[in-house]
Amino acid sequence: MSQVMKRACVIGWPIEHSRSPLIHGYWLERYGIAGSYEKIAVTPDAAPDFIRRLEANGLVGCNVTVPLKEIAFAAVVERDASARAVGAVNTIWLENGRTLGANTDTYGFMTHLEQSAPKWRDADRPVVLIGAGGAARAVAFGFLEAGVGEVRVVNRTRARADELARQFGPRVKVFDWSRFDAATRGAGVIVNTTTIGMKGEGVLPVDWCTPAAGCIVADIVYVPLLTPLLVGARAAGFGTVDGLGMLLHQAVPGFEKWFGIRPEVTGELRARLVADIEGT
Ligand code: ATR
Repeated sequence: MSQVMKRACVIGWPIEHSRSPLIHGYWLERYGIAGSYEKIAVTPDAAPDFIRRLEANGLVGCNVTVPLKEIAFAAVVERDASARAVGAVNTIWLENGRTLGANTDTYGFMTHLEQSAPKWRDADRPVVLIGAGGAARAVAFGFLEAGVGEVRVVNRTRARADELARQFGPRVKVFDWSRFDAATRGAGVIVNTTTIGMKGEGVLPVDWCTPAAGCIVADIVYVPLLTPLLVGARAAGFGTVDGLGMLLHQAVPGFEKWFGIRPEVTGELRARLVADIEGT
């Protein structure tokens, strides 16, 4: 009997920049799965219909990237807890013909942090999030679920940080952008969730005298791999966590749902992505 070829994809507008096919293509090859994973450009107007018709179009599911994540959130039939916390969906699969939308950024970030800097939990110190957009909500949800007592949010636009604090409750404290050093004072983890530092754009005003000894500094930006924030943190003697690991780990749950194997984030996969990033 011939095997049915399972098809998944990533949708976005534009979609050319997506590195997801590199990740899923690697796993399909590694596990010898008869499946495909392609990029499909879908306009915001066409996205709800595309998502409702996934199964009719012969797809087992898809990833969703900018600017379609909020549209996908509205279009799916059911949403997981992280998608509800973030208000955005980046992974869709089918369950009994119904579309289920997940946000795997929380899982991706927390898994990578746990694996590359397990000591982050040792000291019960505040976690500082720079930014208050969708990525910040995904990361805030992860730390709050992990039981962190204080998550500080510092954002250029104060109102968005206030909104995040309203959503997540009293463990979230808001700091003005002009009080950056107060936000980072005594911090055990600092995470940049903004695009600052991407391709060398902008620098974050962190005073490296303020974090606690042993502070872990993470960035969700992965182009370049070593952002100015991570360079500064290393020079000051702090441990760092790059953004590439989050990208790799956030892909795991979708692949497992679509193709039935929980894939491994290997050194070889990471090396392929690093080569691609360094070639840009
Ligand atoms: P995402 O969903 O990827 O997190 P977003 O919702 O557009 O994207 O959020 C982007 C975040 O980066 C915001 O916190 C934004 O700050 P504002 O709320 O003030 O817009 C932040 N950001 C982007 N560019 C920035 C810059 N040049 N300086 C400071 N913050 C910046």
